[in-house]
Amino acid sequence: MSFPHHVKIVEVSPRDGLQNESQIIPAKVKIDFINQLSVTGLPVIETTSFVSPKWIPQLADNSEVFKGIEKIANVSYPALVPNIQGLESAIASGVKEIAVFTTPSEQFSLKNTNCSVTESMHRISEVVEIAKKKRIRIRAYLSCVLGCPYEGKIAPEKVGELGEALLRMGCYEISLGDTIGVGTPPKIKRLLEIVSRHVPLKYLAVHFHDTFGQALVNIYSALEFGIGVIDASVAGLGGCPYAKGASGNVATEDVIYMLQGMGIETGVDLKKLIEAGRFISKQLGRNPNSKVNLALGGPV
Ligand code: HMG
Ligand code: MG
Repeated sequence: MSFPHHVKIVEVSPRDGLQNESQIIPAKVKIDFINQLSVTGLPVIETTSFVSPKWIPQLADNSEVFKGIEKIANVSYPALVPNIQGLESAIASGVKEIAVFTTPSEQFSLKNTNCSVTESMHRISEVVEIAKKKRIRIRAYLSCVLGCPYEGKIAPEKVGELGEALLRMGCYEISLGDTIGVGTPPKIKRLLEIVSRHVPLKYLAVHFHDTFGQALVNIYSALEFGIGVIDASVAGLGGCPYAKGASGNVATEDVIYMLQGMGIETGVDLKKLIEAGRFISKQLGRNPNSKVNLALGGPV
């Protein structure tokens, strides 16, 4: 299979990155950060989540942040939503696109959302029904698709079945999350072979965490398979507080550098992206977790 000419990058750092930081970043800093990301050419920036602040206190300022950012034309600003309560808060804040999430792992579902997989699909269907009526676009995540910190191996068939159900409900894209970063190229290929029997490739995205340093090579394998949407997080921020071992997401700077080297267009300005990564790293008091950022910019 040949590589795509263009890849869509979904930037998840303000949500997936900052949800996992022990320090709570002030809303004003988050707003500055998202505004910087907005002018890099990124087409999608996941801004925050409307989950319970008891579960994720880092993003309790969701409404203030969402209302405070400058929305640039042609950039989507989705927010993560777990239930109707979250959807209602998101709508009240002016959100036009949401991301819902579930997992093929029963144990992870309980740890992350306090309900079974069946119950989480039911919650999602309720959210989707209302969102569709309000003309809100819906993206979906499946977490722990290549392994779970509590259950170990995950059957790719289950990932495919859930993906198909989410697509049928009305989600426009299914992002496959290797939440704890255990994937390797053969596992990616097998997963995509099986999942694409249920969900056409054009509706699939990959969301890789870099726990074992495999994220870039896994992305390369996914591109080879025909995937055209990649989730990434500037400065390699990220993780899931309810997935032990989930380290940072793949760094957007590293992904863009690789795609540029492959002649694949993204529309993203690497220089501006590096600046945004350095800004947030400085706020967090550490260097970006991105080899490309450090190589081109030095330590912050
Ligand atoms: P629960 O405790 O079972 O909920 O949590 P509940 O319905 O029993 O409500 C309990 C309390 O939470 C109530 O407040 C509700 O009002 C409140 P109280 O009466 O006790 O004061 N509540 C809410 N507050 C604000 N917004 C809401 C909301 N819902 C309930 N939306 C729940 C269930 C799903 C809410 C909880 O488990 C939760 O918020 N989980 C989210 C955890 C999370 O955000 N995890 C990280 C995101 S997933 C991820 O990172 C993976 C991903 O990146 C892909 C990958 O890498 O694989 C997407
Ligand atoms: Mg994630």
